[in-house]
Amino acid sequence: MLIPHGLCTHAMQVHHIEQETPDVWTLSLINHDVYAYEPGQFALVSINNSETLRAYTLSSTPGQSRFVTLTVRRLENGSGSGWLTRRVKTGDTLWLSDAQGDFTCARQEDERYLFLAAGCGVTPIMSMCRWLAANRPRADVQVIYSVRTPREVIFAKTWPTLQPWLRLTLFAEQQAVSPMIAGRLDRAHLAALVPDIATRRVMACGPAPYMDLVEKDAMALGATGFMQERFHTTAVTGTQRLKITVTRLQREFSAPVGMSLLEALEANNIPVNAACRAGVCGCCKTRILAGRYTAASTATLSPAEIAEGYVLACSCRLEGDVVVA
Ligand code: FES
Repeated sequence: MLIPHGLCTHAMQVHHIEQETPDVWTLSLINHDVYAYEPGQFALVSINNSETLRAYTLSSTPGQSRFVTLTVRRLENGSGSGWLTRRVKTGDTLWLSDAQGDFTCARQEDERYLFLAAGCGVTPIMSMCRWLAANRPRADVQVIYSVRTPREVIFAKTWPTLQPWLRLTLFAEQQAVSPMIAGRLDRAHLAALVPDIATRRVMACGPAPYMDLVEKDAMALGATGFMQERFHTTAVTGTQRLKITVTRLQREFSAPVGMSLLEALEANNIPVNAACRAGVCGCCKTRILAGRYTAASTATLSPAEIAEGYVLACSCRLEGDVVVA
């Protein structure tokens, strides 16, 4: 079998596919070799067995789950999620990279956790909850999980198997049914539900605006650390624009403040090599000569490269005018 991408060297066969919610499916994969991963990590998946890669959380739990699983939300116009949830079928082969990422509870000694999840961001949380239940049964684990409607609760059959060992609070924005809480998680709810937040390791995964809010609230309530996993493209909410100059092409164009450099370049038909779009593979390395930006990941860059202005375009959030080499 030809390996479709140098990073994706693990061939796994689809054993079965299960629908979790109206737009989320779990693909269970048989791995014929050893596949080492930690709970909460993700893998890059070769889409359509091509050079295109996308990052997906491994929702299964090492040492506990019979299969390696990917739990995928079908996104409108999402080429990766569309292929995985519409085209892939039992018996097909998927190619995965080594497991990646630091969003895991396995490297810490903590015994008290608060997991905050929204939507499909619950996938690494479930992986870690199962792992903690099996490996640190004395851990004190609290989960607050937010969905839009009760039908969108992912792993609805698994949560009851972990209770009452963990404490789960569900928020539903619409049509909440008891014992769910109607509405969104806010600071007042967080304070009431987790009065001992300062004693817990807080880990969050969900859409970027949700994580920005819960980070602010958790820190305001005394949380001493906050870990988060971001796979999503930058949320651009304002109308302010900035100027991007690409010197090698002698081109200038504008983009919204807050957009990622990769999105801005692609939107203006400037070709960039991008595979994982998650700050992991290093494909999108780009040099910024001047300007204001923040970098969420510098994973594959050396200190010397960072000092010279190299960024990973997918993880570089633009804050002011920039000049790109
Ligand atoms: S596309 Fe992989 S690091 Fe940016």
